[in-house]
Amino acid sequence: MIETTLTLRADAPIGTISPRLYGHFAEHLGRCCYDGLWVGLEQKDIPHYEGFRADVVEALKLLPVPLLRWPGGCYADHYHWRDGIGAPAQRPIRLGMSCGLQVEDSNALGTHEFLALCRMLGAEPYLAGNVGSGTVQEMCDWLEYCNSTVASSLARERAANGSPAAFGVKLWGVGNENWGCGGHFDAYSYAIEYRRYATMLQHVDPTAELVACGHDDDWNKAFIQANQRHLWLMNHFSIHRYWINGGPETGFSEQQYYELLTEAHETEDFVVRTAGYLHEAQAGSNEQRNKRKIGIALDEWGVWHPEAREWGPDGELHRDPNTYEQANTLRDALAAAVALEGFHRQCDVLTLANLAQIVNVLQSVLMTDGGQMWLTPTYYALQLHLPHLGATAIPVEVTHGTAQPHSGSQQISAVTATASLKDKATALTLINRHYDQAASVTLNAPASSVKIAQLLAADDPRAQNSAAQPDRVKPVALPVHADGTGRWRIELPAHSMATVVLE
Ligand code: AHR
Repeated sequence: MIETTLTLRADAPIGTISPRLYGHFAEHLGRCCYDGLWVGLEQKDIPHYEGFRADVVEALKLLPVPLLRWPGGCYADHYHWRDGIGAPAQRPIRLGMSCGLQVEDSNALGTHEFLALCRMLGAEPYLAGNVGSGTVQEMCDWLEYCNSTVASSLARERAANGSPAAFGVKLWGVGNENWGCGGHFDAYSYAIEYRRYATMLQHVDPTAELVACGHDDDWNKAFIQANQRHLWLMNHFSIHRYWINGGPETGFSEQQYYELLTEAHETEDFVVRTAGYLHEAQAGSNEQRNKRKIGIALDEWGVWHPEAREWGPDGELHRDPNTYEQANTLRDALAAAVALEGFHRQCDVLTLANLAQIVNVLQSVLMTDGGQMWLTPTYYALQLHLPHLGATAIPVEVTHGTAQPHSGSQQISAVTATASLKDKATALTLINRHYDQAASVTLNAPASSVKIAQLLAADDPRAQNSAAQPDRVKPVALPVHADGTGRWRIELPAHSMATVVLE
């Protein structure tokens, strides 16, 4: 049994946990958009709202989904928005392409449909534009079509297609992974291209928040340096982080269990380093406009198991054909929670994040099979974080604890937690990362009652849900004991997480 003592530092607030840190990502890839979200207006067997699966929409509303990025991913740099507007029967059938898949693409799910889904979910939309095979004018037209309140031909066309009111989409990605599938640009060439796009887009809608595409440290430093005089053209800087070192999706060893959690933990370092490059460039600029805040947009993150990819460690384990679908176990849920701790700690520099992807593909929160739908452990991990959205993040100190095995020189505590304050309540989400030891946690927190206490656990970190066993991993009530002197005792099984809200 591990003994850990945690102390909350309400005296040292970090910042507000923006709901945008709990964003999702829907790409036209495999069964994410078509089948997972969209079953079509003609569908008779699966109940739907305007073409979107009713069971999926209802489950997502409860998550919730504050932000949704679409239509890619790599798909975005092939996507021509005009293909997806107007009468569905008139829309062209294109070759749909992303990540090596080629499909018939009916374009039935286009701009109006996606934005209707966002309205149903209460999600803020985030549109990714096409740099790879598009033009500046094409993206400017999409922005004007969505946002213009001037009665231009594009705005009139939007009205004729059912939306007289402007959509007011704030977030616009200028391409996606343009260092790779988005055109294999080098950082310098993309920096020039970005400047041209951003300048013209800002003329169309100065209130749009533009997201530039980043990559690894070398690319990020080179891009920022190339655009040092034009940093003001950027609101957010995008980075992606997929965890690929945890071995097989379910047949992982104890060591691989820890490797995945450690990789998830290190996501924070990448955010911090990237923010540091931006900060340095801003500090070195003489122009005031270059000093305005640029956020880090971690607009794709999560675990990418070898069964769902042909590259990287253990890539030979991939399924044939690769559908980008993978198992989602309790280990994956814990990894997501580990990353979220870092998001909260960095909430003053990290401005948005999108888990990849929302349904069926990669680390999805929901899975579907015909008329069946079930929630993954990752769904519940995110739902346990609900009390933190919009709250003030505060540090949690491990004043006594045990190091997580295989955490290397980092000496990560086996029990960690994130905390926040909202409406006189203190929310705490704890993780016992230990593979096979339970933890007894003493929490120093001045509070008089427990409002919520829920545990996500299973006998095996490999446990997952399925159509046949949809409730194998789901939250249960957790007993929390007070000693009457501001100390609380929380018992966590091995490989588990919990949320406690105290008042
Ligand atoms: O999420 C799957 C793919 O991963 C996306 O299309 C791309 O942006 C990334 O490489």
